[in-house]
Amino acid sequence: MLVNAKYELQPFDAAEALLRHPEEEGHPRTLVAFVGRDLVMGERAGSILMDADAHLKRAAAAAKFKGKSGTSLEVLAAPGAPASRVILMGLGKGDESEGDGEASKPFDDFFTLGGQTAAKIGPGARAVVLFDLPESIPAAHDSAAQFTLGGWLRVYKFDHYKTKKKDEADREGPMEVVVALADPESVGATMADASHLAEAVILARTLVNEPANVLTPPEFARRASELMKLGVEVEVLDEKAMAELGMRALLGVGQGSEAGSRLVVLRWSGGAEGAAPVAFVGKGVVFDSGGISIKPAASMEDMKGDMAGAAAVTGAMYAIAARKAKANVVGVLGLVENMPDGKAQRPGDIVKSMSGQTIEIVNTDAEGRLVLADALTYVIDKHKPAAVVDLATLTGAILIALGQEYCGLFSNNDELADRLTKAGTHIGEKLWRMPMGPAYDKLIDSKFADMKNTGGRHAGSITAAHFLQRFVGKTPWAHLDIAGTGMGSPTSDTNQSWGAGWGVRLLDRLVRDYYEG
Ligand code: BES
Ligand code: MN
Ligand code: ZN
Repeated sequence: MLVNAKYELQPFDAAEALLRHPEEEGHPRTLVAFVGRDLVMGERAGSILMDADAHLKRAAAAAKFKGKSGTSLEVLAAPGAPASRVILMGLGKGDESEGDGEASKPFDDFFTLGGQTAAKIGPGARAVVLFDLPESIPAAHDSAAQFTLGGWLRVYKFDHYKTKKKDEADREGPMEVVVALADPESVGATMADASHLAEAVILARTLVNEPANVLTPPEFARRASELMKLGVEVEVLDEKAMAELGMRALLGVGQGSEAGSRLVVLRWSGGAEGAAPVAFVGKGVVFDSGGISIKPAASMEDMKGDMAGAAAVTGAMYAIAARKAKANVVGVLGLVENMPDGKAQRPGDIVKSMSGQTIEIVNTDAEGRLVLADALTYVIDKHKPAAVVDLATLTGAILIALGQEYCGLFSNNDELADRLTKAGTHIGEKLWRMPMGPAYDKLIDSKFADMKNTGGRHAGSITAAHFLQRFVGKTPWAHLDIAGTGMGSPTSDTNQSWGAGWGVRLLDRLVRDYYEG
């Protein structure tokens, strides 16, 4: 997998030796050190920068840099420094209050710090990062790994279709970073996990960014099938196989497309034999034109990202398999293209889902729930999961409710909802639980069939969730509406990509914390 930066761990001594030989080719000209409030450094970093100390302090005073978390200072040609560029990354005060009245906890967001640092180091540069913390700031066993993960994700760029590469990065090759530590060997395993997780998130981002003329359902299925190399069992159901199972809800959505529909089943069996798996289901509408209920032209191009749920599930399965998680996990991708056509499904059509329940199609643009209905029935029928989590760019209404900060969480099970919320808080992907109840469920009753596929203008995200709930029976289930977080993501310290790969780290963390061992 192509990651646009190389990170390498080295003991302090080796890194220091590297800095002291500027005549050698590939010599790192950039040195990064972490500082707490009032420019306090770790002991080792302090000694490496000792001769430059007076100059750095003067530069910091002149720039009013105090080492606050989220700030940094770049000092060029500091006399006495072992590198021609020194970057001080502020971590803040440690365990004291940061000044806003709240008792703040010590700095712990090494993931974000990694992204910020990579941005400062910049394209093509070679750098040594002294991973030495001021005394007031504790390191976790995976701090260096989180730092590196943040860096890798920061520098990811989807420029596959740019024929003229103009950026510095493209001319100068990947950024090369030596992370200097007291004992690199002790964190080796966390680094390996982080590199797999970076690849997993990058895989999901690329799938979201790819246009639908390239990423058709069969092409998506082909790319997902590559997880076989990691020991994932892959099964691809084509239209004929799905028709035999009675998946008329899913197939109805794809029937206006030339591309063909697929259901992909990814199985990782790293847990106890026979133990019920946790299941992830992803909406994979590779392009959502709306169908006969066609969408307006403005921003319709964004609907190439309507498969972000399936991308997140694919990425999560990659991460889980690559680190050989001790858990049984099933991922299901419902892959279709929603197009208007002479053969397309129309408003008023009634289809029978795999569950046997009938659905009146009142709006062909409410297609995601139709795809998920059959995918949920399939995974619950065939794999009897202990819990199911679906991810879907399901409703524009969730963007109105929550914007792009939080994803909407809907669940029939408080424990599962709680686990997801905690996993999200842990890794920085935020979920907000939304209400459900019989009064909402009623809104999707139909005059002609068991249900209709939209519930009118009110509470659009909630009636969509109720539609899904009618297909999960008593299985603990959670639905994540990621229409706001899965695509068109605002850039951040750790993401500059349109598709952020939202959900990959969340699901990986969920499995780590609750379904392993
Ligand atoms: N894929 C869209 C939802 C969406 C909108 C995702 C904006 C990302 C950004 C979904 O299939 C859809 O069209 N939903 C309709 C439902 C309506 C017809 C009940 C919507 O939200 O308008
Ligand atoms: Mn739609
Ligand atoms: Zn859609």
